[in-house]
Amino acid sequence: MTSYFTTPPTIVPGSLAAHPQPELTIDDLVLRPWADTDAPVFLGAYRDPAIQRWHTRQPADEEQVRTWFAQYRQAWAQERGASWAVTRDGEVLGRTALGRFDLDDGNAVCAYWVLPAARGAGVAPRALTAVSAWALGEAGFHRLHLSHSTRNDASCRVATKAGFQFEGTKRSEAVHADGRHDMHLHARIRGDDEP
Ligand SMILES: CC(C)(COP(=O)(O)OP(=O)(O)OC[C@H]1O[C@@H](n2cnc3c(N)ncnc32)[C@H](O)[C@@H]1OP(=O)(O)O)[C@@H](O)C(=O)NCCC(=O)NCCS
Repeated sequence: MTSYFTTPPTIVPGSLAAHPQPELTIDDLVLRPWADTDAPVFLGAYRDPAIQRWHTRQPADEEQVRTWFAQYRQAWAQERGASWAVTRDGEVLGRTALGRFDLDDGNAVCAYWVLPAARGAGVAPRALTAVSAWALGEAGFHRLHLSHSTRNDASCRVATKAGFQFEGTKRSEAVHADGRHDMHLHARIRGDDEP
């Protein structure tokens, strides 16, 4: 017997993938889908010790990066996620992504990194703010959440600056190179105050 939901979906299936993944702008930043020509800079980002520390899944080489980019395109087409290159004047500064789309409840998970040379200038909070505005507005999501290690103070600042309220500590949730870490949960829901 086919199961069914007693509530309508928050986002109608097919409504996101009916359009190309949008390009987003905030101040002088342009967020656009990844292009295969970004593979060298994307691979280079994962040579940075801080990105290696906090993002335990690493690409091995440029070919694998291009496979990831193809997976990003597929994720958009299947309404599972979206990944943006954060650029300024055509130069890639970082990555902001949404994943684990749940169209029924209208939830998604956020992730980000910024290249070392671009840090400290509010790139990640502004990119996250732009993605949140699109996701909680036009796209129709209701709740976005993110998790960071309790030892990652810079990421906690990004979440707070982008209006993601602290909701609690998830004990011993994630494995990093130096063992298990407690994780902070932050979320922003539709109607929250603008950051
Ligand atoms: C966390 C990260 C995305 C922040 O991006 P960003 O664009 O530099 O964000 P901000 O400019 O708002 O800076 C955030 C905090 O980083 C710290 N910071 C400032 N300048 C910095 C620099 N040059 N280098 C490193 N950290 C710096 C500060 O604590 C700052 O908070 P403050 O503005 O309240 O002082 C970036 O440091 C990064 O990519 N880190 C490695 C990967 C990572 O942690 N990803 C998130 C996993 S959950």
